[in-house]
This record gives sequence, C-alpha cells and structure tokens, in this order.
Amino acid sequence: MFPVRPSRSELIAVHADLLHFRADPGAQGDAAAYEYLPGGLLVVDQGKTVQIGPYDQVEPSLPEHALMLDYSGCLCVPGFVDTHTHFPQTDMIAAPGANLLDWLERYTFPHEARFADERHAAAVADFFLDELLSNGTTTAMVFGSVHGQAAAAFFSAAQRRALRMLAGKVLMDRNCPENLRDAPGGGYGETAALIEIWHGRDRLEYAITPRFAATSSVAQMRALAELAADYPDVPIQSHVAENRAEVAWVAQLFPGARSYLDVYDQYGLLRPRAVYAHCIHLDAADRARMAAAGAAAAFCPSSNLFLGSGLFDLAAMRAAGVHIGLGTDVGAGTSFSMLRTMADAYKVTQLQGQTLRALQAWYLATLGGARALGLQDRIGSFDSGREADFVVLDPRATPLLARRMEQATSLEERLFILMTLGDDRCVRATHILGAPAYLREAV
Ligand code: GUN
Ligand code: ZN
Repeated sequence: MFPVRPSRSELIAVHADLLHFRADPGAQGDAAAYEYLPGGLLVVDQGKTVQIGPYDQVEPSLPEHALMLDYSGCLCVPGFVDTHTHFPQTDMIAAPGANLLDWLERYTFPHEARFADERHAAAVADFFLDELLSNGTTTAMVFGSVHGQAAAAFFSAAQRRALRMLAGKVLMDRNCPENLRDAPGGGYGETAALIEIWHGRDRLEYAITPRFAATSSVAQMRALAELAADYPDVPIQSHVAENRAEVAWVAQLFPGARSYLDVYDQYGLLRPRAVYAHCIHLDAADRARMAAAGAAAAFCPSSNLFLGSGLFDLAAMRAAGVHIGLGTDVGAGTSFSMLRTMADAYKVTQLQGQTLRALQAWYLATLGGARALGLQDRIGSFDSGREADFVVLDPRATPLLARRMEQATSLEERLFILMTLGDDRCVRATHILGAPAYLREAV
C-alpha cells in the first residue's frame, strides 16, 4: 500500500475523506462544530499535524520528499479516545454476572489477582494495547490492578508503542480479597513513587485510581486526599453511581456524605481531569457539582447494558454542562471498539426518549473524549500542532456496509451507518504520531 513504510520523523500527506471536530455539535451549530474534507489532504511533519485542506489546494505546495499515503475512499478521523477501560480485565471480557457486585466477586477479583505476576501483566498489556490499536483507539484512560508492578508493565508497553496513555494502579484496602488489598490506609507511597517515575514520561500520564468508594476505608480516602493535594496536576479516575445496590452500600459506608459523588468531593477528588465512570444514579445537585468542579463523566453504554446497571442520562448531563467522554469499560463492556460503543450509546439514549445524533457520537469518541481528559490541546482534532494520532476507516469494509452505504445521501447518514454496523473490520489503519502502528493488511 505504501511505497515505503513511513516513520515518525517523516513528512507525510494522508489522502482521505477527513473529518474532525472543533466543538460539540449539540452545543454549537454544525457548521462551527466540524470540518469535513472529502478527498482532502492531512499533512504531518515530525509526528504533528501541520496542515489540512482540499487536495487541490495543499498538494501543489508539498515538498518533493513528502510521502503520499493514499487512503482515498476511506474516512480518516482523529484516533478514538476511550475514557474508561481496565487492562487486567482483558481475559474475562464476556463473563456474565447477575449485577456489578456479583460480577466483581466472581470474575473480576480472581482475574486481577493474577497480575501479581509481572510477566503476566506485561503479556496482557501488550495484547490489550494491540487490541486498542486494531480498533482505532489511540488514547485511553486505563485502570490497572492493585499491583504497582503491573501498572509499571502497562506503562512500559505503552511507552514502547509511543502511545498517549493515562493509567494507574488501583487503590483498595477493604471489601475485596485479602490478596488484593493495600495496607490499611495505604497506597500513598506506591502511588507517589509511580507518579514520580511515569507521570509526564514521553506521552504517559499517571492517574490516581481509587477503585470506588466502597473499597477504600476512611483512612485510605484521607491518603487519597493527600495524594490529590500533593499532585494537583495529576488526573484521577474512579467509578461512581453505577448500580443501585452499590449506591445504597456506599451510603451505609459513608453516612456523613450527601451522596455517593459527595464522598469523592469531601476528599478533594472532584476537579478538572478527574474522570468518573458511569454516573448513572446521580441527582441534579451531583450533576451541578460535577460541572462546577470541572470533573468528567465516562459514559460506558456497553458495560451499563451488560451488567444491567441503568441508563446514563446524556441529556441531563449535557444540560448540566458536565464534560463527557465515551468508555468501553472492558471487561464489563463487551467490545474494545469505539464504533460498537457509539452504537450502544445511541440505543441507551433511545431507551430514554432522547436521541444521540451521529455527529455528536463521533465528537464524543474523538474531541469530546480528549476534552474530558484535558488533552484537547494535544490530541482529538486535526488542528495545526496536534499530535498526529489518527484512524483510517473503510466505510465499505463488509458486504452489508458496502450495500447499505449505497443508499446514504449525507455525511451524517454515512457516519450513523458506520457506527451502527461497523467494528474493527472497518479499521484499515491506525497511525501514531503519523507512523502506522496497525495496518489491517500488511504492506
Ligand atoms: N466498580 C468498581 N470496580 C469496577 C469494575 O472493575 N468495573 C465496573 N464496571 N465497575 C466497577
Ligand atoms: Zn470500570
């Protein structure tokens, strides 16, 4: 496909139908929200986007040595951003549980215990990252297990692939098996040491990662408050208000809190770049507080349907002004594909009498996710100077897609069909800093 396999330092020009967002199409008029260039050119130098425009305008000014990548007929968008997933749950995806708490005990904890073995962690991290790339996901916010060494193995694997990833070792010191616990009130030292080594190294960022309020004692919540205060720029990730029984349990464990979300607030864990998965059973006061704090919600529709957790109220969250990204939540989510996740998100809104427009779904999977993670100045669009992580999608990858696309008459219709019928078979290539990191067909 390529005359030469391009490297990260090369000047490359990508010829494809280019689409990227500048704003949320729900909040802005469409014209201001996105740029679509059928048969356009995306120019990348030293791993960064330098120009995007119509082929006829950009091509004549390209230097002789520019390497042209011909993806004509394909759709090229910024790499997908998965705002919530768990790498130690790769090998237990598609394990049925009666509900969240049953599923955690029966499958999740026993599988996560295997990550005490660093070699196992490294092997799973390699597989997990390759699976992200073959699905077009270039950045993710990732839970580890409780083991610091497993988080380190994940970071090493991401560093070798030059990926922009956020991850952290889980903190938990109660209500989980003994062999998965931090020392009572512990976790500060190990987390701080990992932050010092990994946060800001190449394209990696550490995320402070309390599993959820139910598995941290008051003493550990205090340690978390200290970590958050000592590292004000470090992202945070956790779960909140996923399941009704979990919400009731947290109310018993923290009787002084107004709500589940308020537990995190009381310990200084609500702030920009703090990403909370699920956010299903919140009230209006919680939503207003999340928005005011600048915290973000990871909408994980596949997981929520699979575990029967409930329906994310996208309209209410948006109206409250909360930052929102999409998350696969593997392994409670049943796919690594952000296309599958967009399709599930649409269905979750339909069940509530809302509607998720295709343009908005594609925004959430790209720039929306980047904004939720506070990374919009680096990734998520083709604006000049952004890191050139992108995915090339074949809208006619399957016979059914090819047939259905024949009937489509608008961009929005094509995007809707692609997210509804598409999956990793549509991913023709995934590029990291301009260079191909995954090619469906070997060159
Ligand atoms: N709440 C606490 N831990 C988990 C987890 O691993 N997955 C999900 N979906 N919810 C959680
Ligand atoms: Zn999760």
